[in-house]
Amino acid sequence: MKFPSRRGTLAGLSGFTGIVALSGTAAARGLGDGAFTHGVASGDPTTNAVIIWTRFVTKVAVPGPVRWQVAHDEAFSRIVVQGSALATPETDYCIKVDATGLAAGQRYFYRFLSRSGPSVTGLTRTAPERGREPLTIAGFACSMLPAGYFRAYADAATRDDIDLCAHVGDYIYEYGDELRQFAPNMLPERTWEPKTEIVTYADYARRYASYRADPDLQELHRVKPFVHVWDDHEFTNDAWREGAQNHQPVTEGPWLPRRDAAAKAWFDWLPVRPQAGEPRRIHHTLKWGDLAHLIMLDSRLMRDKQPDSWQSLLTNFADGDRARFDREALRLWQDEIGAPNRTVLGSDQETWLAGQLKASRDAGMNWQVLIEGSVLGRFQMPRQSEGWLTPDASANEKKTRRILAQVGELGLPFDTPLWSGFPAARERLLASCKANGSNVFAFGGETHIGWAFNLPGGQDGPAAVEIACTAVTSSNSFRPEGFDDASREAAFIESSPELAWCDVHHWGYTSVRFDAKAATADFTGFRSISTRDTPVAKRSQLVAETTKVGVRPWIVS
Ligand SMILES: [Fe+2]
Repeated sequence: MKFPSRRGTLAGLSGFTGIVALSGTAAARGLGDGAFTHGVASGDPTTNAVIIWTRFVTKVAVPGPVRWQVAHDEAFSRIVVQGSALATPETDYCIKVDATGLAAGQRYFYRFLSRSGPSVTGLTRTAPERGREPLTIAGFACSMLPAGYFRAYADAATRDDIDLCAHVGDYIYEYGDELRQFAPNMLPERTWEPKTEIVTYADYARRYASYRADPDLQELHRVKPFVHVWDDHEFTNDAWREGAQNHQPVTEGPWLPRRDAAAKAWFDWLPVRPQAGEPRRIHHTLKWGDLAHLIMLDSRLMRDKQPDSWQSLLTNFADGDRARFDREALRLWQDEIGAPNRTVLGSDQETWLAGQLKASRDAGMNWQVLIEGSVLGRFQMPRQSEGWLTPDASANEKKTRRILAQVGELGLPFDTPLWSGFPAARERLLASCKANGSNVFAFGGETHIGWAFNLPGGQDGPAAVEIACTAVTSSNSFRPEGFDDASREAAFIESSPELAWCDVHHWGYTSVRFDAKAATADFTGFRSISTRDTPVAKRSQLVAETTKVGVRPWIVS
């Protein structure tokens, strides 16, 4: 629906303030009466468009329309584009507009208007058309709401240098409050709805509503455009093409309706651009001048079932002789985990990715930035790790660490739900980066640890460099208080040839500044997330330089 003839009227409303001013104008007549309950958000910026988002709720089933505006100035005296939109129950009253007709490389203000008043004003930007203007992307992963305050989101919202935020998955978690029994560090005041595990569309939508009521997340969405990909917890733990570890068909119904409900809630609640006729397609690209292509990937819904992280070794070979154990580990690695047809992206997406990398390189772009939900780099469980367990660790936990360290001594990775557990698919992806890309960078997440990898590419140097983002708030089992960080991190690096840097203790995020010469990654870490004002505790910087034949390895300063 358009508002023909009102453009001039609204454009003249510069500087009006809120409910009184708006409700007293002709412009307010015909607009819906309700509340913008969850702020505003923007995302997927192109050279001439950006997605803008809000949620508009009223007491009637279908509220009247709201008007949206994108302007050059905060007073909205120079409106660039505007229109109207309806909130409906089908999208949980979320409104998304693809605001087109914008100019490249510009910053904009945007807002929504109702008869009850305006939304908060959002800030966004478009991508540059040409040139190699630097681009800074802040990467985030794994935000478990009850586990702590979103310090990472709050800190990033204050930074002028960040152009774009990339959330690489586990933006929400599906669990219910039973989680609090197993994880005693959860904060009682950090509550979510519903209290039970989420299964239906209404459940997923309510969970997003809980997350987006958080003021720090809301503020980051207000001031920065986002790109998003999903990982497993936007669905349920260890999701794959045909099911999930945490999906029980007997009590929760068939997998596909749950998958589709979760995907729809994701699309409704996040400022991502839907692709016509493909309701679960998230792989797409965005261009940033002549500098970079951002390539968003779906590493979750097309994948084969992940291996069980060596569970059969633990069950059947843990107490036998070592030679037998080694033979079985290598057999599993070669014959089962290593089966050549196992996939993460699916063959269509793999082919698409190769084409995107090549087109980007042929167009003279400096960078291809992969944004995906898992971890490409391989890391081994260090020998010393059994000694890192706390004194109250169970016999089974100790045995698991010992087994995984033994697997590591064979040069094999322990965390097989990652790309590590799909070695043939990983080799295909790295070969494609090397053959088709110019300088390839990957953002990942998933493990709740910060990692920087040089991904193997043969004699000429890495196929790509990777930053896997640590968690915003989720925990990892290497993070008990009162230990020497440096020794654990050194042990991981010593036992893992691809690993250049890691941080096992801090929560936080990593921003990466891309220019024609290098990618400069800045890690921001928080030692505690138990209050809303804990200070930044650690910063690290890594640099990976570009060359004509591919990116150089990370230099850690
Ligand atoms: Fe996670």
